[in-house]
Amino acid sequence: MRLGIIGAGKAGVSLGRYLPRASEITLTGFLSRTEKSAVEGADFTNSRVYTSINEMVSDNDIILIATPDGEIAGVWERIRGCLDGTKEMIIGHLSGALSSELFSDKDYPYIHGISIHPVYAFSDRFSSYEKLNTAFFTLEGDPYAVTFWKKTLTELGNKTATVEASKKVKYHAACSMASNHLLGLISKCVGLLCDCGFDETSAYTMLEPLVKNNVNGAFLTGVTNALTGPIERNDLDTVKKHLQVLGDDETLYKELGKAVLSIAETKHEDIDYQKVRNLLWQ
Ligand SMILES: NC(=O)c1ccc[n+]([C@@H]2O[C@H](COP(=O)([O-])OP(=O)(O)OC[C@H]3O[C@@H](n4cnc5c(N)ncnc54)[C@H](OP(=O)(O)O)[C@@H]3O)[C@@H](O)[C@H]2O)c1
Repeated sequence: MRLGIIGAGKAGVSLGRYLPRASEITLTGFLSRTEKSAVEGADFTNSRVYTSINEMVSDNDIILIATPDGEIAGVWERIRGCLDGTKEMIIGHLSGALSSELFSDKDYPYIHGISIHPVYAFSDRFSSYEKLNTAFFTLEGDPYAVTFWKKTLTELGNKTATVEASKKVKYHAACSMASNHLLGLISKCVGLLCDCGFDETSAYTMLEPLVKNNVNGAFLTGVTNALTGPIERNDLDTVKKHLQVLGDDETLYKELGKAVLSIAETKHEDIDYQKVRNLLWQ
């Protein structure tokens, strides 16, 4: 199957380099907003540059739209303008929050629309592909397209699962919180340590083993086993003292603390956490 990619950015170029490892995928090339990006993507993947959407459509069996989410509908409109209504194609996008429903059109029954979301942080166009074999992909859309991509990604060693269109926004919020918000939390904590007189380097050095061991523990043995700390120990005085010094960060501490408390309550059914509970909810 001939694959063309629209949007030669971080996700597009990384997938362009990675996906042709699958036996059924031949990457033809890139079309992008700027020719420079398309040329760089094509050079990196040994493929070509498209300058016309018409040629991209006529030359490929699969098109992946790898533009920012806000551009996908407009790009699809341009693709649709080039369809003759008979050519069978898989058209996909990579958004975590959008579904494939934007590709639904009864006038184009041969278009198999899909959303393919790599649960992965592409931070660089030219190196992020290296660990893509570790990524989990969620698939949602037309059954023919889902079956094709499940088979292709499985061949590459990636795990896949399907997600309902109506759940995509919540699913994406969960992935974003686990990834991006975690970085926000670390940055907040580094700031608090700097308030205590540590420089930023020392703060990161201090937190690294703490955070990494905890996160590893959560994935190895589950959050319940990994959990430690004053909330888990039902240490009311310490939690009270924390809240007194946090200023604007008190709300963040309380909201995350509620989630921590709910793990602690599962872990220790015999402990009465009511006083800590009252503190976090007041
Ligand atoms: N980055 C991630 O970690 C990640 C993870 C999972 C899913 N995704 C999804 O992947 C998609 C792309 O994200 P990204 O991070 O790769 O973004 P990105 O690095 O900003 O790349 C987007 C590319 O799209 C091109 N583009 C923008 N508007 C266009 C248009 N109208 N027509 C053609 N090309 C256009 C840009 O072209 P020029 O360079 O030529 O200006 C740019 O190269 C999004 O749907 C995002 O939700 C991203």
